[in-house]
Amino acid sequence: MKLLSGKEVSQHVYNLLTDRIETLKKKNIIPGLAVVLVGEDPASKVYVRSKAKRFASLNLFSETLVLPETTSEGELLDLIKRLNKDSKYHGILVQLPLPSHINTDHILDEILPEKDVDGFHPVNLGKLAQGRPQFVACTPKGIMRILDYYDIDLSGKSVVIIGRSNIVGRPMSLLTSLKTQGANATTTICHSGTKNIPEITKMADVIIAAIGVPELIDESYIKEGAIVIDVGMNRVDSPERERGYKLVGDVNQKSIENKVAAITPVPGGVGPMTIAMLVENTVEAAERLSKII
Ligand code: GUN
Repeated sequence: MKLLSGKEVSQHVYNLLTDRIETLKKKNIIPGLAVVLVGEDPASKVYVRSKAKRFASLNLFSETLVLPETTSEGELLDLIKRLNKDSKYHGILVQLPLPSHINTDHILDEILPEKDVDGFHPVNLGKLAQGRPQFVACTPKGIMRILDYYDIDLSGKSVVIIGRSNIVGRPMSLLTSLKTQGANATTTICHSGTKNIPEITKMADVIIAAIGVPELIDESYIKEGAIVIDVGMNRVDSPERERGYKLVGDVNQKSIENKVAAITPVPGGVGPMTIAMLVENTVEAAERLSKII
């Protein structure tokens, strides 16, 4: 079984970005990202911190704006409007999930599509659906990049995605089925309304698990020789660890290691790619907004 290392691929992405970042810097442009975090969700805090650390390590600009859980939808909309107008931010990212009293769609609709480095705005998702992608959601884009790096061509293959979220499953289904180099797959989405998920995933050449249930996918879901992409980042209690929990994927990796051809590990698989694609999208936003491309 081959491990598909997102850590390695992300390093390759950062190397490729160096020249583009230098070109911008020569024009006194530092790619800048505003990260908005509302409330105290512990996992969100960790994600936001790792994004900020990565931007700092590449000498890029990022600012995390932390708002209390009690922030109203109107206050958050006002903040987005201010960030849209501020030219030091080329990208705006609102960390999800938002508190339940805020309508996520209203907030995402307000982000300028040109600054929507998460690719969640309906204009960007719509363009992806039409096969003319602009900003593509970071996790699905990062998965395509892993497959490309390891010369896994999806053309003519059967891809089954488990999960239909706007963040992963839905854009992933669009990307894999586009008539483009490396894609062109026959894509199926399974979700909570699917009657017999293992029956469908057992037909898949490539399975992409994005459900958010720890280690749900075991050998009964998988055909011999399949490629498995594990998008899960689930915290499970682990008293022997100092922080009290460990991260596991949506796949029970031990149970399938003798059956699959390749798998993305957790951690070190999809996770590092999400951040690498956020950096890439922010650099691209800076290039576009400053008319370099
Ligand atoms: N929450 C989980 N994944 C993501 C992501 O890629 N972007 C944002 N903004 N929030 C998330």
